[in-house]
Amino acid sequence: MQVPERIPEHVAVIMDGNGRWAKARGLPRTAGHKAGVNAVRETVRNASELGIRYLTLYAFSSENWSRPPAEVSDLMGLLKLFIRRDLADLHKSNVEIRIIGERSRLKPDILKLLQNAEDLTRGNSAMTLVIAFNYGSRDEIIRAAARIASDVSEGRLSPEDIGAAAFAARLDTAGMPDPDLVIRTSGEQRLSNFLLWQAAYAEFVFMPCLWPDFGRDQLIEALSVFGSRERRFGGVEARVS
Ligand code: IPE
Ligand code: IPE
Ligand code: MG
Repeated sequence: MQVPERIPEHVAVIMDGNGRWAKARGLPRTAGHKAGVNAVRETVRNASELGIRYLTLYAFSSENWSRPPAEVSDLMGLLKLFIRRDLADLHKSNVEIRIIGERSRLKPDILKLLQNAEDLTRGNSAMTLVIAFNYGSRDEIIRAAARIASDVSEGRLSPEDIGAAAFAARLDTAGMPDPDLVIRTSGEQRLSNFLLWQAAYAEFVFMPCLWPDFGRDQLIEALSVFGSRERRFGGVEARVS
């Protein structure tokens, strides 16, 4: 597949369809999640090779706690395994890791791993891999609003200075560019509480492929669709992003 000329700076992915992938093979859902981790590995490598600067992956939503406890614990286990196995390689590849989401409900061992991954890779410049874990956009927005309120009540911020920039600076994604492209696999066409603020002007590409089947060709296909879109940001003419 031909690599498109225009590569978005920030690609965010709703990795969906692990369960259906497993079901189609008569396997337990865990097998789908395991296969999904391989697709994560491959996608990180491909994104970096293609020159994507920020890759955000939706790994566990604030609503995913409603799944059976065994599945929740499998998903936690896979994140731990991924970080333990891949952190050194990611660091060697000059990838910076950032985690977004609410941390207070996570177990101490996971928290420590996540913190470690961020500390070790801080300042790496090939690509930033953002892992959305225990992430929910409404929760993130509420936490930002609470920070604004306490900054105002403690005199660090005056109400006249509350604007989009002050708000964005208090989101988990502070300092990152907004996503240019949001990809969702598995055919579902919804955001499921992902980057509601940040995706205000993102392009959306929904693909039928299930997450474990998402490889280089599928990434390039999504980038090609993105390349054919005209982004206007409310104006009249297309603006190159
Ligand atoms: C996406 O696959 C992975 C996570 C939500 C963690 P699903 O587990 O949602 O797979 P489906 O949607 O049931 O096929
Ligand atoms: C969204 O997928 C969350 C992640 C990919 C982590 P879900 O499978 O949880 O979303 P819904 O329930 O189909 O909306
Ligand atoms: Mg799903």
